[in-house]
Amino acid sequence: MSVHRPTQSAPGLALLGAGIFAKEAHLPAIAALGDAATLRAVYSRSHRSAVDLADAAKASLSLASPPDIYSDEQSDNNLDTLLHRTDITAVLVVLPINVQPEIVIKALAAGKHVLSEKPVAPDVKSGIALIKEYEEKYKSKGLIWRVAENYEVEPGYLRAAKAIRDGKIGDVRFFRLSAVGYVDKDSKWYKTPWRTVPDYQGGFLLDGGVHSAALLRILVPEPFRSLSSYASLSREHLLPQDTITALISCSPANATPTDPQPIDKLAHGIFELSFASPAPSRAGVGNTTIVTGTKGWLQLSNAKVTADDGTETSVVRVTIHKVTHPQEKEGDELKEEEEIVDEPVKGVEAEVASFVRAIQGEDDGFGAPFGTLRDVAIIQAALNSEGKVVDLEKLLRDG
Ligand SMILES: *[C@@H]1O[C@H](CO)[C@@H](O)[C@H](O)[C@H]1NC(C)=O
Repeated sequence: MSVHRPTQSAPGLALLGAGIFAKEAHLPAIAALGDAATLRAVYSRSHRSAVDLADAAKASLSLASPPDIYSDEQSDNNLDTLLHRTDITAVLVVLPINVQPEIVIKALAAGKHVLSEKPVAPDVKSGIALIKEYEEKYKSKGLIWRVAENYEVEPGYLRAAKAIRDGKIGDVRFFRLSAVGYVDKDSKWYKTPWRTVPDYQGGFLLDGGVHSAALLRILVPEPFRSLSSYASLSREHLLPQDTITALISCSPANATPTDPQPIDKLAHGIFELSFASPAPSRAGVGNTTIVTGTKGWLQLSNAKVTADDGTETSVVRVTIHKVTHPQEKEGDELKEEEEIVDEPVKGVEAEVASFVRAIQGEDDGFGAPFGTLRDVAIIQAALNSEGKVVDLEKLLRDG
């Protein structure tokens, strides 16, 4: 899988965006590519943060000299100049949610492959338009656009999804995802200006919530078709909303008796997402994802494992319970087998590596924009449902 390529032929990359995630997640992921790609340039809207990013890149990638610096404050070295460079094949876009769609199109129009951070777009309508434009104008030219949803390639989550598809827990019947966080005004994420006063729906619920929606999407084999929810705001500084309690169903919103698949055989579940913990003690209490099937259940959790030499690794822990009835009859006589697997967390690394392989012709299909549009649809529907059933298929069709 890891073919050694000489540096000259390795694709040239540019990192667009100098925020926390660009520095703390993307730079290490680029470093992990080794000589499979070369970071040639960085861009940020402000010159100062572009310089900071270039310095961080130099250190993190052990470069002899920093990558070239571009910003909106230098008319000779702005984003357009960067995109004109023929030695840059692909860009990683890690910019504020509302800015990204325009930059994605600009980069595609300049003939670059694009990996852009989730969410695919601030809302379903603009996501549909963006995907349409990509498919009509750029896909046929061989340009790849992927959305960076690291949960899609997180090894532990993939392992859980495969166990479910391999039938280890039987048919999926119900599921539950709870994720409750604490965000105070000193949080480094909150202090990002575009997050402090979000100009997109849902604030943290969109920004962070799409990950949780993506996790359920990859675990549950049937697509989600309807949702009803309540949304609220408990902590003023997190406006517009900070909490969602939703029911998600794989049954169509307007199921009829003539539907080919009886709706009582389709999975449904609870989706609880909040950033409104009143104190850190509440955050993470009960954070879990459990998928239950006809022949067992599976749970995901985050854990840390300590090696003999004392180094700590964050892992996704997958616990699978397989239930069998030895005498082929239902009843008390059952056997339960437990299997626990830990996979180190490395989704961002995996998604960047997979993108680089894709632009070299080995496309594994991860990061498809329409998949991540489904995640935006879940959050958008949950924010607007007010207890009514939202037809997710219609939302994905019409915006
Ligand atoms: C629980 O979930 C929330 C929301 O995704 C997240 O912010 C928080 O870090 C999680 N807590 C733990 C302990 O994993």
